[in-house]
Amino acid sequence: MRFPQSFLDEIRARVSISSVIGRTVQWDKRKTNAGKGDFWACCPFHGEKSASFHCEDNKGRYHCFGCKVSGDIFTYLVEKEGVPFPEAVERLAMQAGLEMPKLSPEAEAREERRANLYDVMQMAQDFFTAQLQSAAGARARGYLSDRGLPAGVQQDFGIGYAPNDRHALTKALTAQKVPPEQMVEAGLVIKPDDGKPSYDRFRDRIMFPIRDARGRVIAFGGRAMSADALAKYLNSPDTPLFHKGTVLYNHDKARKHAHDSGELIACEGYMDVIAFTRAGLPQAVAPLGTALTEDQLGLMWRMVPEPVLCFDGDEAGLKAAWRALDLALERLTPGNSLRFALLPEDQDPDDLLRTGGADAVKQAIAAAEPMADMVWRRALAANDRSTPERKARFEAGLMQTVNQIADPTVRKYYQDDMRERVRALFGRAGPASGRRGRGMAGSGYPAGRMKGGRFVQKQPWEMKLPASPQLKALAARPAGEMATERRTGFILLTLVNHPVLAEDLVEEIASLDVQSAALDSLRRRIIDTVAFGVDLETSGLRDHLNQTGMSAVIDALDSQARHHDCWFARADAADRDARTGLQQLLALNRKLVTLEKELRRAELRLAEHPSEENLNLLNEVREQLQSVTGVEASVDGYGEASGRMSSPTG
Ligand code: UTP
Ligand code: MN
Repeated sequence: MRFPQSFLDEIRARVSISSVIGRTVQWDKRKTNAGKGDFWACCPFHGEKSASFHCEDNKGRYHCFGCKVSGDIFTYLVEKEGVPFPEAVERLAMQAGLEMPKLSPEAEAREERRANLYDVMQMAQDFFTAQLQSAAGARARGYLSDRGLPAGVQQDFGIGYAPNDRHALTKALTAQKVPPEQMVEAGLVIKPDDGKPSYDRFRDRIMFPIRDARGRVIAFGGRAMSADALAKYLNSPDTPLFHKGTVLYNHDKARKHAHDSGELIACEGYMDVIAFTRAGLPQAVAPLGTALTEDQLGLMWRMVPEPVLCFDGDEAGLKAAWRALDLALERLTPGNSLRFALLPEDQDPDDLLRTGGADAVKQAIAAAEPMADMVWRRALAANDRSTPERKARFEAGLMQTVNQIADPTVRKYYQDDMRERVRALFGRAGPASGRRGRGMAGSGYPAGRMKGGRFVQKQPWEMKLPASPQLKALAARPAGEMATERRTGFILLTLVNHPVLAEDLVEEIASLDVQSAALDSLRRRIIDTVAFGVDLETSGLRDHLNQTGMSAVIDALDSQARHHDCWFARADAADRDARTGLQQLLALNRKLVTLEKELRRAELRLAEHPSEENLNLLNEVREQLQSVTGVEASVDGYGEASGRMSSPTG
């Protein structure tokens, strides 16, 4: 429904912006002048220590001088609290003591019919859940328990059962005075054109209610229990309440979790959404038996900037991923993108949960690849690059893909990124050897040397890297970006496990250059927590973060830390050692980030002009890099407080 501008203005005039925002932030007493309607606070959007978020009752607007967000009472509810716009209007109208605007008589009649349909759907929902518990539902209960769905989960998702009877639902609804036309309009009953008697659409099926963003039942998906049923899933047809391309399964519940965790997962079906929820990732949605539509993509981007699309690891899954990629490419904006999680062959999330447990599911999501890597991967997969002409065709095709991006800024960065990858591929990695493995960023240039005018890739074992094993791993090349991301992850993990260190380092953490969306939301959350003065003496930070949906990221970091022996980041290290380790890691990070950039430039220069001089330049930077990784300060007693000997040097 569209709202008249005058109505929105009336609400703005009656509801002060400070009363809306004041519910969720604490005003800075020093800077605020409430009498003048002039309020300051630490910004609720980006987390900070000093108040640069300003709101003014006279103007009815807020603005942050730090992160530059701005808006009014409506945008605040939408963007900060994740409330859909119509609901924000409704809530604020109520606060203003205003009635919702009157509609034209026809529109009103239409609204009323819709309102009745919601009731009908809810009656059907109640009927199906009751049936599941009745004698008729015995086999369905058996089926669900065979699939490992506990009663609690069945209840959470409102799962029901449509009995094997052509008129059971019709009878139940008739008893509640629902007219037959409404049953048909709601898509629950089928009325044949040839005048034969009507009958229930869903029979002998497990019923999944589909709710809208506000939690109202608007449709159903019914799963047949026997393998030989004509359609495994039967969905409601489009009705006045339900247009399948514009709805996401589990939208209502995922919204809140997405907002809290900054993460959203889109998977293929009902059971997959449930599997993610059971694995501790309740921020999952699914399109309904169709490929992802533009509308659904828009809904997801309204929740988080970088949803993760999760596909089965088979050919069909990959095809679906490419289709989603093309849909999204055109619509990328600065900040809005997608990530892609491809599961092991022949496994959907539900299978993965059963075979690998929650950890396997979380790992799959944590390993999601950025959009650009997927673009590159597809180009590599689809092309022979053995002759100059074929190389050219490869590059032209890649650039054509990138040119689908409508936003000029994003397009430019993609062009740069892809050109760099092409150069790295042809320039020195040798004939079309491609990249080494999944998820590695394209800028992970191989090290090497010039030989007979050609660049010869250096094998990993040829690289000389001093320093202790853990720093060696953290500074490892190639895959510079991966190493950077890992370092950032360990910095954050150290803070999660040793929250007393966080306070002094907020500024530094705030200025870290974090590429991964998951790490970035962890980072923001840590800052928020510190800024809001949560008691950091206790080990409460980790619990708190877990509650806000960060547990998958943290668990993944924990297991990485174990794998790379980054012991000081872990909870069992002494705070004192954690501090020393963290300081070193931060220092290392600062230097490496700078040097990585220089190295990349030097490598490019060498690729373009393979001269002795440029080779020397490159070697110089590389030596600097090595010396940085070698200077792990040997602090007296480092590690002893955690029951370790001083770290060895390699
Ligand atoms: P899948 O065939 O992958 O089923 O379809 P699934 O989700 O793994 O379900 P289980 O584990 O076999 O019970 C994925 C989604 O596609 C839609 C449904 O939304 C389903 O969840 N679908 C599938 C249909 O709409 N109709 C069908 O006949 C099959
Ligand atoms: Mn399945």
